[in-house]
Parts: sequence; C-alpha cells; structure tokens
Amino acid sequence: MRANSRDELMEQSNKSGFNSKLGVILAAAGSAIGLGNIWKFPYEAGQNGGGAFLLVYLICVIVFGMPLLMTEILIGRKAGKSTFSAFRAISGNNHWQWLGWWSALTVFVITGFYFVVTGWCVDYLYEATVNSYAGMGTNELLAHFTANTSNTLKMLICGIIPVLITAAILWFGVSSGIERLSKILMPLLFIMMTLMVIRVLLLEGSGTGLRFFLAPDFSQITPAVVMTAAGQCFFSLSVGLGLMITYGAYMPKDQDATKTSFIVILLDTLVAVLAGIIIFPAVFAFGFNPAEGPQLVFVVLPAVLQHMTFAWISGVFFFLLLFIAALTSTISLMEVIVVSIMELSHGKLNRHQSVLIATAVICATVAVYVLSMTGVWSGLKLFGHSLFDLSDTLVTTFMMPLSALSMSLFIGWFMPLQDKDLVPYSQKRYKQWLRPLFIFTLRWIVPIAIVLIFLNGLGIFNL
Ligand code: TRP
Repeated sequence: MRANSRDELMEQSNKSGFNSKLGVILAAAGSAIGLGNIWKFPYEAGQNGGGAFLLVYLICVIVFGMPLLMTEILIGRKAGKSTFSAFRAISGNNHWQWLGWWSALTVFVITGFYFVVTGWCVDYLYEATVNSYAGMGTNELLAHFTANTSNTLKMLICGIIPVLITAAILWFGVSSGIERLSKILMPLLFIMMTLMVIRVLLLEGSGTGLRFFLAPDFSQITPAVVMTAAGQCFFSLSVGLGLMITYGAYMPKDQDATKTSFIVILLDTLVAVLAGIIIFPAVFAFGFNPAEGPQLVFVVLPAVLQHMTFAWISGVFFFLLLFIAALTSTISLMEVIVVSIMELSHGKLNRHQSVLIATAVICATVAVYVLSMTGVWSGLKLFGHSLFDLSDTLVTTFMMPLSALSMSLFIGWFMPLQDKDLVPYSQKRYKQWLRPLFIFTLRWIVPIAIVLIFLNGLGIFNL
C-alpha cells in the first residue's frame, strides 16, 4: 500500500500536518535556522574574507535561495508527498525518481555530520552549566575546545544524545512537538542574540571586527569564495534537497508560498548576520584569528558570554537556545529519513518502526564520523580530508548544488508551467510580474549560475 494522497501521507506520519499557517512558517524557519547560521556561517565568512563572503552570500540567497525555496514548497503542496516520491507523483513518470534518491542520500550524509556538531553544542551546554570556561583567556579557550572534541567517548555520548531526543520528538509526531517549541523559543533566540550584539559592540576595538564583516573587500572574491557561499546558502536555507517539499506537503492549500518563503529567508539571513555581528567584533577584541575554522564560534562565544552581565546564566541560556535551534534542524533532517524509510517499505513499516531504524542507522553514522575525527580512524583520509570534513564538503559543494540544479531544470523545463499550483500565481495586479520572473529565474538563471560556479570552482573554467 502506498500513500497516494496528502491525507494518507499525513495519516501515515501520525497526523503530522501543521495546525496553522504560522506553524508551517515556524517549522520551516526552525529547519532553516540552526548551526548553519550560528556556527557555520561565521566560520566560513572568517575564512573567506568577511565582508566579501557576506556580499556573495546575500546574492546567492536572492538568486538561488528564494526561487528554490518557493519551488520546493510548491512541489510539496502540489504532490502532497515527501521528497522521496514527490518527483514521480508530479511528473507522472519515473525519470526523475533518481532525484528523490539523490536527495535522500544527501540528507543521510549530512545528518550524521550535523549531529556531531550538535554534540559539540550539548558539550558546551554542559560546559556552560558547570561554568568550566569561566575566566579562560583566548589560548585556553582554544585548548579547551581541542581537549573536548578529541575525547572520543565524550563526543560519542554528546552526539548520540540529540539523536535520541530528535527520535523521541519524531516518535510522537511533528506538529505537537516542533510547533509548540518553536513558537516560544525562536523569538527568545532573537532576543538573546540581540543582547549579545549590544554587549560586543561595547567592547573596545569592536569597530575592526564590524568593518571586517560588513565592508566587502572585492579583491577577496575568488571562485572558492563564491563556491563556498553558494554551498552555504543551500545548507543554511535547507534548500536544494527537496526537504521543504516534505514541509510543503503539510502546508494548507490556501497558504501563500511566496510570502512563506520570503519570511523564512528573511529570518534565516537575519540570524546569520546577527551571528556575524556577534562573532567578528569579539574575534578582534579578544585577539582570535577570524580564519580559525570550525572551532571559531565555540571559542569566541564563551569569551563573549563571560563578559555578559549574569555571565553564568547567560551562557547556559544561550547554549540551550543554540541546542534547540539545532534540534529544530535535526528534526527536519531526520524526518526526511524516517519518511523515506516508510515510503521505501511501501507501507510495510509504520512510523514508529521507521523511527527506530533511522535512529540506529544515524547513531552508527555519528559513531563513524566521530571515530574518523578523533578515534581509531583519525588516520583515515580520503582526498586529504577526514570522513567528517569530507561529508560536509561533498554535500555543500557537490551534492546539494547538483540536486538544486536538477530541481530547477525539472520544474523550469519539464513541468507544465501553466499549472497554477506549480508557479506562484496571484490575482493581484501588482504581483503579476512574479510569475514570468520566477519562470525565467528557474529556467535560466539558477541552472546557468550553478553550472558556472561549479566549473569555476573546479578550475575547469575561469571567469
Ligand atoms: N539549515 C540548517 C542550518 O542552517 C541545516 C539543515 C536542516 C539542512 N535541514 C537541512 C541542511 C537539509 C541541508 C539540508 O543549520
């Protein structure tokens, strides 16, 4: 038995349709906003020229993020199905089925990676609670991070805890869990980050960091910067894999997809920019290196938090919010895996069984990644990277752009674009330009830009 309609899908997934329009927006924003914004964005900006990276990133968000997010939501709403079977359902044939497979595979590769970093948050939530980093200087904070993350057992435990929590949330269905949680916590995250912005701006020497992050130095824009920024755009917005297709499937038919995408993108970008405005002034004020890499945020934030009023409670509160922001993203990632397993089994496995299988498989991947970083397999290198690093690079610079490219071609060229449901459509006169612009962007701009960035990044073709 296969879930053929939206209702069946929703029933199968334990009534996980969202209760309200706000619920969809919050859940989609919850999926988008996470470690990608607060951890990955600042460290990549730091390694790739600061302001130059920010500029290219913002362009990517407008050119790729917006049309792709809209497309995914529209496909999902039209098909009423998860990523895995939506392509077949919409096109009516099997030619695009590989894209469902490809997306599921990509989500699978990224999920283990994401849980490992979520594990770092769990560790820092613990560190903040026991106040272990209080009074530490720049070098001590760096050494502290290295010591923590090279403790294999600790990293395994910290990585597996969020897998179990996410599994528990999925076990009980989507709507009650995520919706209620995000309604309260997302606004709190904004407030906390704003307070931290105020604190760092009061630090002596914060101007240098602000300039580094906000004033682009155009000479820093290289093919590698463009490729990293494009990858980060897909990663941060969770677009390009069809993940939002699953969310679109849960969306009420009368909800405006354009508005929903716009709000999600705005919130996601705002959090990334806020994170940059917290990190960079502090980097310069405390004498860190902006190109520190993945540990950047985990060493700079404790430095900032120590200087907050009510330092201890601010630290605990912040890492708790960061952990929850990460959880709303892991929920969306694991949900794709759970639904894929359910659909793969043609209805033989129910939601609970799929959650159990997904949990086991993800725990195993987390273990493999952790061991590839610190443990017995740390010597194992593929193309000069550990498995952990490789999974990130592979996903953001290759797997996500490829599926984004395919998705824009699929919709732009192979779908009946007169279909009102697949293209943003509005009766309102002032919005009439939206439709042709959307079609043109999907047909030409997105695919050409992705191919150019790709060839350019590989050095096959130099702009
Ligand atoms: N966008 C999330 C973040 O910024 C991560 C994420 C959630 C994601 N779901 C995804 C990334 C799907 C890629 C694909 O933290």
